[in-house]
Amino acid sequence: MALSRKLFQHRSSVSVFGARSMSWWRSVEPAPKDPILGVTEAFLADPSPEKINVGVGAYRDDKGKPVVLECVREAERRIAGNLNMEYLPMGGSVNMVEETLKLAYGENSELIKDKRIAAVQALSGTGACRLFADFQKRFCPDSQIYIPVPTWANHHNIWRDAHVPQKTFHYYHPQSKGLDFAGLVDDIKNAPNGSFFLLHACAHNPTGVDPSEEQWKEISKKIKEKGHFPFFDMAYQGFASGDPERDAKAIRIFLEDGHLLGIAQSYAKNMGLYGQRVGCLSVLCEDEKQAVAVKSQLQMLARPMYSNPPVHGALIVSTILGDPDLKKLWLKEVKGMADRIIGMRTALRENLEKLGSPLSWEHITNQIGMFCYSGMTPEQVDRLTNEFHIYMTRNGRISMAGVTTGNVGYLANAVHEVTKSA
Ligand code: LMR
Repeated sequence: MALSRKLFQHRSSVSVFGARSMSWWRSVEPAPKDPILGVTEAFLADPSPEKINVGVGAYRDDKGKPVVLECVREAERRIAGNLNMEYLPMGGSVNMVEETLKLAYGENSELIKDKRIAAVQALSGTGACRLFADFQKRFCPDSQIYIPVPTWANHHNIWRDAHVPQKTFHYYHPQSKGLDFAGLVDDIKNAPNGSFFLLHACAHNPTGVDPSEEQWKEISKKIKEKGHFPFFDMAYQGFASGDPERDAKAIRIFLEDGHLLGIAQSYAKNMGLYGQRVGCLSVLCEDEKQAVAVKSQLQMLARPMYSNPPVHGALIVSTILGDPDLKKLWLKEVKGMADRIIGMRTALRENLEKLGSPLSWEHITNQIGMFCYSGMTPEQVDRLTNEFHIYMTRNGRISMAGVTTGNVGYLANAVHEVTKSA
């Protein structure tokens, strides 16, 4: 009797355990497709020879092929076989971080000399933003982040997953297809003092609309008056004007005004190191002591997430930026990429005008950076995809980096077809 009860108990505990293990993930629904990376998945699945991917912001040459910069190839040749595979420190490559700070804060920055910047290597721009969002949550737990409308879709995910509440501020003006400067300034004024503001340092993603130098000065002044904290996402340094130094202008204006600020930097676009995931998070502090403390806390956040960042991409960057000839070559190659995109903007606009489009396409050449915010509706984008095999995000963003001499005519014709009766 006792034995059969024991057997029964054993069997029922097995079945309870079995039932539970089988049901653990039953409530998990498939995640929605990523609005940007999901476009690439759909593009890859399309067998049409005419298909065009102007979805993801990844540079292509005029033949539509991914590009590895010559300076990167040369850096790889120099690195190959020369280094061990030891862990980097939690804060990443010291050389890479030093060189990266110079790009944002200036070659001869007093702030760097005074060691007032807490900086760590990050997993590209996304990783830098995420590390900052986690830092913000840990040390300003009641704060929120003001995010421009629109912004890069992933910004919302990043601050959401860091549990930082999000507010928005006016940025893009749909009628003029330019900046809603008045709305932006009002929102800065109306936000509670000491709020966090997410700003795109240059080549705003997705709109391609940047404030002018005068407008940046005004924005900086207003943010200072309110004691807000500006956090810059600088994913496209060099892609706006072709010159990384010029593209740091907004940040330099804020530095001159004496802000304490944060910056996310990335080498995905401007060095073409997309998959290497190299970037940097920096936080400008009041003094060296504070910077040491902040850096130690950033490392503390990194340790349980990924311990320390990967070494290869960081070595490529420090090899290039640490060598005057390679750096010169890099600057030339960045300009080459930016110029090709500018050329494609002109070509797309001209093609649309030649087709007799009743709409104005001036904004294609007014906007800058990798993206053109076309003004097309999600339904028009769906038609482009379904009828013409043209893949792009449903917000009407065209990645100009995917436009080539070979496909610009086809693209213009398709855009004309879906917009001509609008
Ligand atoms: C983009 O906006 O297309 C890029 O920044 C790639 C990405 O990760 O979304």
